[in-house]
Amino acid sequence: MKITAVTLDAVGEPVRVEEVDLEQPNKGEVLVKMGAAGVCHSDLHSISGQHPADLPCVIGHEGAGEVVAVGPEVSRVKVGDRVALNWQPNCGNCFYCDRGEHELCREVTQTVWSGYMADGTSRISRNGKPLFHYSGISTWADHMVVDQVCCELIPDEVPYEVAAIIGCAVATGVGAAIHRGRISPDHRVVVVGAGGVGLSAIMGASMAGAKQIIAVDQTLEKEELAREFGATDFILSSDEDIERVIELTENRGADVVIEAVGIPQLQQLWLEGVRPGGTLVLVGVPHVDVSSLYGSANLIRMQKTITGSYFSATDTKKAIQDLCAAYVDGRLPVDRLITKRIQIDEIQDAIDLVVTGVEGRIVITF
Ligand SMILES: NC(=O)c1ccc[n+]([C@@H]2O[C@H](COP(=O)([O-])OP(=O)(O)OC[C@H]3O[C@@H](n4cnc5c(N)ncnc54)[C@H](O)[C@@H]3O)[C@@H](O)[C@H]2O)c1
Ligand SMILES: [Zn+2]
Ligand SMILES: [Zn+2]
Repeated sequence: MKITAVTLDAVGEPVRVEEVDLEQPNKGEVLVKMGAAGVCHSDLHSISGQHPADLPCVIGHEGAGEVVAVGPEVSRVKVGDRVALNWQPNCGNCFYCDRGEHELCREVTQTVWSGYMADGTSRISRNGKPLFHYSGISTWADHMVVDQVCCELIPDEVPYEVAAIIGCAVATGVGAAIHRGRISPDHRVVVVGAGGVGLSAIMGASMAGAKQIIAVDQTLEKEELAREFGATDFILSSDEDIERVIELTENRGADVVIEAVGIPQLQQLWLEGVRPGGTLVLVGVPHVDVSSLYGSANLIRMQKTITGSYFSATDTKKAIQDLCAAYVDGRLPVDRLITKRIQIDEIQDAIDLVVTGVEGRIVITF
């Protein structure tokens, strides 16, 4: 069948919206009619080369929609089901899954992230030449074939656009706050970068009852949004951010700082904003080839912890279910994160807008 999709041919080039060919689902595969897809900064990292992807591909990794066809041997979903697409499914039965560290399982993702379907071929092609499946789910397309393991059922009350962004930004931010920051009610928290992920971290900190949540961003437009999600203070970033945070936290520093931008200099700087004994959670992803430097003597003497946090930082299937439930019962106002809706042919403008940092989350609706 012919589909409309966003393709990326080479690093640094603009993306293209074009018609490409999609084969019907094979064994264990599912055809999804996309309802909505989110624009995550990680997509931009692949476009800029900061996070290399197999190219040419159909890009996008936040999406949700309706199952419209299934291949042979599909048991997880059926035609008509509403699903969120999960780019990090796990096997449920390996060293890590058995320990409850599902987010570290690579049994399934080594195939899903290969750019091909499980049989080693692609379902997408252009002029007879195969295109890679980005993150296994290539969501910036009106239809896509995915492995059934990437499909998570969602309740009827959850709109596709909400489910789409739960499938990366929301699960990532909330997971960083709850599972890696282990935020509790007596905590003073800083979230650096109030984008889709950072605002979700603020929501997560707020759900955990943190007594103080300081949002830091380079754009003033983010203040209102950050406060809406539970930030108690807002700092428009300057050279004095650390001093401001020390001042706001009874001269101690924050119990938890979450870096949700992905700039090594910020990752280094913000260790200073963490109180002795506190935790720096790194969520933003810098270029794969660069390093952040930390003075280890200081780290040792101050007993600070630096931890990474990947996607939901827990079983993604359970996280998507729990976050959908939290949205339905009003604990997690995910819909308010969406500040702009676009059509697929407006994607380049949306990408340019993400760079300015003024929007919450932009979603493509189909
Ligand atoms: N760990 C994971 O599993 C995971 C998952 C998704 C995204 N990410 C990463 O998280 C980061 C954020 O993603 P996003 O989709 O929320 O991005 P976004 O573009 O929506 O938001 C980034 C925010 O950071 C702000 N910002 C930029 N530079 C800043 C600076 N110097 N100081 C303060 N604020 C600054 C921007 O104004 C914007 O509000 C990216 O690096 C992305 O790749 C990680
Ligand atoms: Zn993402
Ligand atoms: Zn596993």
